Amino acid sequence: MPKRKRKPKSTAASDVSGEDIVVLRETVPLQLRYYGDPVLRKRAEPVAEITDSERQLAEQMLMTLYATGNGIGLAATQVGVLKRLIIVDIGEEDDEEYEPLVLFNPELLSSDGEIVAEEGCLSIPDVTADVKRPESIVVEGVNLQCEAIRIEADGLLARVLQHEIDHLNGVLFIDRISGLKRRLLSEELTRIQQAEKPY
Ligand code: NI
Repeated sequence: MPKRKRKPKSTAASDVSGEDIVVLRETVPLQLRYYGDPVLRKRAEPVAEITDSERQLAEQMLMTLYATGNGIGLAATQVGVLKRLIIVDIGEEDDEEYEPLVLFNPELLSSDGEIVAEEGCLSIPDVTADVKRPESIVVEGVNLQCEAIRIEADGLLARVLQHEIDHLNGVLFIDRISGLKRRLLSEELTRIQQAEKPY
């Protein structure tokens, strides 16, 4: 999910301050998959074990996210890997600095309230829409150190977590808007679908 209504983030991969996240120098950004790519509609498989290959994938995904300049979250599905892994880095919100988050097998445990906010998606460039989602959520998953963690989130963090978990189930934010609104976006969606290399 890209950042909206904010200044683009210029964090270089080498500036990642998450204690346990080391972006390898040889890591290169992965190719993003775009709307129309069938992989985006597939359900990702649970990660049974976190090995070096999963750790490297997480690092490459962070690198890919930072390379977009305005990304705040990415699911493995979006780089064509059908593993249940999401990464989130919302940076700063309400004067609070958030560490990058790597989450394997994320599960939405509970949700509360309802709120509408604008969303976009790195796989659907230049398309945004208002999406209604639960306002606060509890998510469980496993971090890079193989520890089970529980996150209670609201605001932007809750939104991006839900958006990225949707990706692991083959769901896109445009599935969560009305048919009428989606028809209004159909020209843009067709453009992305037909472009050989949107970016
Ligand atoms: Ni997305």
